[in-house]
Amino acid sequence: MADLTIPEGGFWPAPEIPQPNIYPMEWRVETEKLAAIYEKSKRMVWNPADLPWDGLSPDDFTVEQRLGIMYWFAVLANFDASGPAVFARATIQAFEKHEEDPVRKCFFSITRDEMNHEECCQRTIAKLWPGGPLDWTPVTDLEKAAHNNIGWLYHNGGRYWTGYSSAVGKYSLPVLFTSFMMGEMAASTLFRGMASGTQHPVFSEMFQRIGRDESRHLQICMTILENEWPGLTDDVRSLITRQLRAGFVFLSMILWEPPEGFWELPPYFLDNHRVLMDHAREAGLGVLSYEEQAENWRVAMARIRAIVERWGIEFPAIPELDIEGVHVDFLDPEEIIPVF
Ligand SMILES: [Fe+2]
Ligand SMILES: [Fe+2]
Repeated sequence: MADLTIPEGGFWPAPEIPQPNIYPMEWRVETEKLAAIYEKSKRMVWNPADLPWDGLSPDDFTVEQRLGIMYWFAVLANFDASGPAVFARATIQAFEKHEEDPVRKCFFSITRDEMNHEECCQRTIAKLWPGGPLDWTPVTDLEKAAHNNIGWLYHNGGRYWTGYSSAVGKYSLPVLFTSFMMGEMAASTLFRGMASGTQHPVFSEMFQRIGRDESRHLQICMTILENEWPGLTDDVRSLITRQLRAGFVFLSMILWEPPEGFWELPPYFLDNHRVLMDHAREAGLGVLSYEEQAENWRVAMARIRAIVERWGIEFPAIPELDIEGVHVDFLDPEEIIPVF
């Protein structure tokens, strides 16, 4: 074996690495509970390709119903299909800020899960409406309405994405995570409701599995927030109040109906959205009624309220659901954190 070289006067210290940077490498564990959730996430991994797809046939539905289902998944994709990119970016952020190892790993696991959720949108649409969401030529009025609405929806998704890209570095963890937490609460609520409502074996299994993932995401967010919330300043608290309102505005598009005055949509959007959602509902997808959706959303909001108020964070007014609270005026698209 060759001899070691020991410089005269000792080893030279390596230069300090300018931060933020993913280097130097380390694997600090501060929150055992997060490490345990990550282990669980690995054991619970499932494969969307293994859902009983043979049981999903275009022939089981009318053309309108197929279009309605495609439309619903196109709307869902505005949310679930942003997940991989949203959490991939958050994962990189967590590495650069040297968050403890389980935080980074949990983000990675959410990225992994969201990729599966996106795949569910992709596979369902490919099976029932090839070319969907947008790469097909609409012929009937209903088809034209669906195609046009989806275009407008993604226009809005695009507005929020630029905001998120700059926000992820700007917001502190508690602010970012309150938004994530709200998204996961909404997602787990949605899929629990849909799983109980659907009559179709493929969708039933899909929604149950996604719902289980979303509950785990919620658990991750809550565990991280329990670490972060005790140190909140009043400034951050009021920023979180705004974020809660922003979360409602964003997530209502899939959980219920979009509130007025924020989404950039043509005046006919909502009428046509309702018609298409009705077709999806009739197809047995498990889309709850307007009132059931409102009630589920109200219950989810009450749970979030109870959590944040424990930490002295005021809840925003949600007049759309008769929820009282702090008035939050004009929101900027940059304030929307697109997460699900
Ligand atoms: Fe998801
Ligand atoms: Fe999620």
